[in-house]
Amino acid sequence: MKNLKSDFPIFANNKWLVYLDNAASTQKPAYVIDWVSDFVSKDYSNIHRWLYSLSEKSEELYHQSKILVWEFINCKASEVIYTYNATYWINIIAQSLINSGFLKKWDSILLWIWEHHSDILPWMILGQQFGLNIKFFEIWNDFDINWSDFDKKYDKTVKLVACGHVSNVTWKIYDMKKIKSKLNPETFFIVDGSQSVPNIAVDVQDIWCDCLVFTWHKMMAYTWIGVVYLKLDWIKKLMPMFGWWWTVRDVNQDSFEFFQSNDKFESWTPNIIWAVSLSKAIEYIKSIWWIEAIHKHEESLMKHTLDWFAALGNKISIVWPKDIDSRVWVFSFNIMTNTNQNIVWEAFAEKNICVRCGGHCAYPLHKFLGKNWTCRMSLYVYNTKDDINQFFEALEEILT
Ligand SMILES: Cc1ncc(COP(=O)(O)O)c(C=O)c1O
Repeated sequence: MKNLKSDFPIFANNKWLVYLDNAASTQKPAYVIDWVSDFVSKDYSNIHRWLYSLSEKSEELYHQSKILVWEFINCKASEVIYTYNATYWINIIAQSLINSGFLKKWDSILLWIWEHHSDILPWMILGQQFGLNIKFFEIWNDFDINWSDFDKKYDKTVKLVACGHVSNVTWKIYDMKKIKSKLNPETFFIVDGSQSVPNIAVDVQDIWCDCLVFTWHKMMAYTWIGVVYLKLDWIKKLMPMFGWWWTVRDVNQDSFEFFQSNDKFESWTPNIIWAVSLSKAIEYIKSIWWIEAIHKHEESLMKHTLDWFAALGNKISIVWPKDIDSRVWVFSFNIMTNTNQNIVWEAFAEKNICVRCGGHCAYPLHKFLGKNWTCRMSLYVYNTKDDINQFFEALEEILT
């Protein structure tokens, strides 16, 4: 694949930048930036309730973006909901499941030890407020699921299983279909795709979840555009957390009736500008031959990166599975001398190398693995071998 850096103005404006923090958020191509600016300059208006042409144009672009999402993850357009980001949605759906009477006192929620805090805290808050049990499934060798632990903990009290498709620390890709096949049909299965959708092709028909959520700022669109797939049955069954006029069919002094469509979960002035940025990010991804091309590009840098890591021997300890086919191309590791995380972070930052050191909002996993912190280097479509070389030259200096 050709070097795509020239498509991203951030690199022209920051000549020495080595951006390897893509797991946190990706840079935006000029294609997205220019289109958004063009849209806001020429066609922007509020949507859903006006008849003038600006509004019609904005409405059309908003709905086109949903069709692109629907093709992207293979669901129906009517099952796509826009939200601000993954965290926001998980908090909303948690409260909706209570409001709808699906989750009740003494029910259990099962999470996996690798979950991001965004997929832990909303459930824990619910647990504290409403008397639910929160349990964690464990992993073992090579970060595989410990199925006997699963069999022990998955009992009749479990109403909901929440699972990160790809861990944001070990980068292991977990088999959602296998997990779903072990659940009874009444268990609500929610998947956090924040780190899978940007890196591998994700088809909701294939992963069999009831709900998938991910966040598009990790995929070259603007911040504050999260995407949700929610199965139509659940859209109909659930009471939304927020009420607002667009989402209700009728309101009386003593009653109200929601629309039975995805609209009932978009209870605000929609994210119109962000939705345009999302459409343009999808078009850009298509122009570089779809998500598999991103994955292939990252793979092509993998051998180079792994050779560098191997040369460091036991000065570092790696935190990723040996089975390289079951992971995406991000690398978390520990420095064996256990240098303070801020010293390492600053040493990279001084050389304009953007990485992240810390617990990566996955403290239960770090504690389970007995690590205080890890350093994470994450690649995306615009990274080159040169970026990787600069990263390792800096790391070698830190280690000497
Ligand atoms: C696995 C995972 N889930 C959820 C999130 C939260 O994403 P957002 O801040 O966009 O809600 C992140 C962000 O890093 C993540 O890595």
